[in-house]
Amino acid sequence: MKTLFVLRISTVILVLVIQKSYADIPECDYFDTVDISAAQKLQNGSYLFEGLLVPAILTGEYDFRILPDDSKQKVASHIRGCVCKLKPCVRFCCPHDHIMDNGVCNDNMSEEELTELDPFLNVTLVDGSVSRKHFKNELIVQWDLPMPCDGMFYLDNREEQDRYTLFENGTFFRHFDRVTLSKREYCLQHLTFADGNATSIRIAPHNCLIVPSITGQTVVMITSLICMVLTIAVYLFVKKLQNLHGKCFICYMVCLFMGYLFLLFDLWQISISFCKPAGVLGYFFVMAAFLWLSVISLHLWNTFRGSSHKANRFFSEHRFLAYNTYAWGMSMVLTGITVLADNVVEDQDWNPRVGEEGHCWIYSGSSLVSHALLLRSNGFSYCF
Ligand SMILES: *[C@@H]1O[C@H](CO)[C@@H](O)[C@H](O)[C@H]1NC(C)=O
Ligand SMILES: *[C@@H]1O[C@H](CO)[C@@H](O)[C@H](O)[C@H]1NC(C)=O
Ligand SMILES: *[C@@H]1O[C@H](CO)[C@@H](O)[C@H](O)[C@H]1NC(C)=O
Ligand SMILES: *[C@@H]1O[C@H](CO)[C@@H](O)[C@H](O)[C@H]1NC(C)=O
Ligand SMILES: *[C@@H]1O[C@H](CO)[C@@H](O)[C@H](O)[C@H]1NC(C)=O
Repeated sequence: MKTLFVLRISTVILVLVIQKSYADIPECDYFDTVDISAAQKLQNGSYLFEGLLVPAILTGEYDFRILPDDSKQKVASHIRGCVCKLKPCVRFCCPHDHIMDNGVCNDNMSEEELTELDPFLNVTLVDGSVSRKHFKNELIVQWDLPMPCDGMFYLDNREEQDRYTLFENGTFFRHFDRVTLSKREYCLQHLTFADGNATSIRIAPHNCLIVPSITGQTVVMITSLICMVLTIAVYLFVKKLQNLHGKCFICYMVCLFMGYLFLLFDLWQISISFCKPAGVLGYFFVMAAFLWLSVISLHLWNTFRGSSHKANRFFSEHRFLAYNTYAWGMSMVLTGITVLADNVVEDQDWNPRVGEEGHCWIYSGSSLVSHALLLRSNGFSYCF
């Protein structure tokens, strides 16, 4: 009875072990394998794949493929070999004779185009030297791996901001945001480039669209907003703080708060339905914040210097009114000029382009981040 039990257990274990080795090649990443079903099988179980001898131990039968999110998709059973352990690979998006324009694989390259294409890749070796390699003769083309993602953009390494490094082991390094991608996150393919009047076909890397993370910015902004509300509350409740300086400071804080609020609306795309007004209002409050800051500076300067302006009695009595007129009035004038320029100026370089390029803010060429940074340095210095 006991022996039967042990036997059964060991059978189960055996089956499990067999199943495991049946599916996976030991110590081989799926993204280092290639479908070698079409290769010639030798008598001792090895395969001869594109002139490369693949030992039986580096082959396995697969009935699935691994998608970029690590899930498995069932496919027809086929033999794969861990070829990239034997020879450097290059990860293509589509079969080697396809061209990928606008993210779609096309097999319509003519014979003429096939001979015209530039077949060389710049591969960086382990010692850091760059070697020019023929994509098909010197490397193994991996093309049957699942596409990294749906939306892709390509890089043109003639452009400064599009520089990249392709390492021999398949690691891809994008220079401008210093991101390292593995073979599951990028692919290469022939692409038609416009060179002045002519076109050329070269191998270009295709990367997944970069979706900016708004979590970090949201946390920072909300922290700042809470800080500002607390500061304003303290100034409103503590009677001792309600002197002229305190009043100016509250105005400054309220402007900063509003500026931030519109930045947050933009970040969360709440202001999309009233984009231009939101951008203009945001600009108004940011300008008012800076003007109130200048008022505070002036006031502090006057205070420390001692009040020698007794002569101008009217001004002393109505100082807060004067400050208000200056800060709000100047902001209105500046905002007015901006709105006018937005409507009148034809030259795109001088037009504020409020609400364009997907941001409900003055167009800055870069992202919202620069505004946020500018405001943040201002906000934090008063917050803490
Ligand atoms: C399998 O056979 C090939 C050619 O017959 C030979 O070159 C190779 O070394 C053999 N592999 C093993 C693991 O015996
Ligand atoms: C191949 O077909 C696609 C659309 O099917 C087209 O956009 C592209 O220009 C064609 N390329 C060539 C080289 O004919
Ligand atoms: C490889 O590098 C050379 C020289 O820097 C450059 O002209 C060529 O376009 C590069 N090739 C590819 C496919 O990027
Ligand atoms: C590939 O090579 C580069 C440079 O030699 C190295 O930084 C990277 O860690 C390597 N990647 C893997 C997966 O070994
Ligand atoms: C492009 O074509 C125009 C007119 O056909 C010609 O004047 C110009 O020099 C060409 N540019 C290049 C870079 O070949």
